[in-house]
Amino acid sequence: MRRIAIALLGITTLLFHFTASAQEIQEETAEQKAKRMAWFKDAKLGIFIHWGIYAVNGIDESWSFFNGYISHEDYMKQLDSFTAANYDPEAWAKLIKESGAQYAVITTRHHDGVALWDTQYGDLSIPKKSAAKRDVLAPFTKALQKNNLKVGLYYSLSDWSHPDYPLHLRDTYRYKNDPKRWEKYLTYMFGQMEELSTQYQPDLYWFDGDWEHSAEEWKSKELRQKLLTWRPNVILNSRLQGYGDYATPEQGVPVTAPKNPYWELCMTMNNSWGHQDNDLNYKTPSQVIRIFIDCITMGGNLLLDIGPKADGTIPEQQVHILKELGRWTNKHKEAIYETIGGIPHGHFYGPTNLSKDKKTLFLYLLHKPNGPIVIKGLKNKVNRIRIVGNGTKLGHKVIGKQYWSEVPGLLYIDVPEEDLDPTVTVIALQLKGEVDLYREDGKVIESN
Ligand code: GLC
Repeated sequence: MRRIAIALLGITTLLFHFTASAQEIQEETAEQKAKRMAWFKDAKLGIFIHWGIYAVNGIDESWSFFNGYISHEDYMKQLDSFTAANYDPEAWAKLIKESGAQYAVITTRHHDGVALWDTQYGDLSIPKKSAAKRDVLAPFTKALQKNNLKVGLYYSLSDWSHPDYPLHLRDTYRYKNDPKRWEKYLTYMFGQMEELSTQYQPDLYWFDGDWEHSAEEWKSKELRQKLLTWRPNVILNSRLQGYGDYATPEQGVPVTAPKNPYWELCMTMNNSWGHQDNDLNYKTPSQVIRIFIDCITMGGNLLLDIGPKADGTIPEQQVHILKELGRWTNKHKEAIYETIGGIPHGHFYGPTNLSKDKKTLFLYLLHKPNGPIVIKGLKNKVNRIRIVGNGTKLGHKVIGKQYWSEVPGLLYIDVPEEDLDPTVTVIALQLKGEVDLYREDGKVIESN
């Protein structure tokens, strides 16, 4: 039942995410938007952090009481053991930096309504109600800024613990029947948004839970305007019923690039967003790196999730993945940041990417080649070929080029085995001029 409920919600969520992002807000030109989105477009990697009282029992964040796995009362008892005793925000920020991420997004308040900061709107917060007894958000946002990382705040529009929220403990009142009560909820929600905007200097908001109400009910338009007034360059994800900036496919790696030029895949390392001790179903670092490559070569970002424990320590498997990711991103910087996505499939058997000036073509070798690698249909002269991260220069050979035909020959490159990266090797082709591809369907010579 629970799975079905989640699956159904998931489908609706996905639909909303994609449709929402397709609508554009008319208040700024495409150029202005591109300027506001610039750091996000170049960031490529972000770290998502689901940290909340659900880490105490190691159960699903919020959904566990919503779907009746635990009573609301018992769920809230986790507050007593949420200690943050070993919480080291500076070490978190350093680890995030080391992974190669350029931003982090932390759950300031999930659907369970428990705020990480000392909100003046209600008393359901970590400082007021938990064993930690302090604002755990402020030191982290400060540590991010100190480490030159962008600050992203996750905020669930829905609050299943709030007495004025229509789904409070599955309460059935609808806002239309009781607009005053709904207004009270919105005052609380807008109030918290103002607190977060003015006290924590976010660069990005990551909304969630929008599927439970329409844009009109959430007052999405007004909220967007307010957020951009409080923080003029803030970026909003799509989960605002049509008033966000970028698309957020969840868990499933896209096969073709999403339509919205701005997008980010959010994904767990195992199968859980928050810390769950018994979930050891981790993706390997190599799988994570390949998924990351899939995202960036289609012009998107990866928002990779970690779930710290209730005492603030990050599980060792997650630290390991972040460090391995860091080894790879650090070596391959130029093939990651400031790239724009690759060339169409068919020219190379694997993912590709282009530098912003389109004069460097990157090839990602997902497998150990058992012979020279080949590129088809490249019209440019190639000035130099090298291995990214170690500078080794590589020779190439063009075969099959006919002087009377405009079809480019096949470009073969030998990659010495000793220069291969243990995970994914990247080859850079420095081209004469911007990449120029042969895209015709090879003429039938007999008809000429
Ligand atoms: C879903 C879930 C939520 C999770 C989020 C992360 O919307 O409701 O639990 O935090 O995905 O993307």
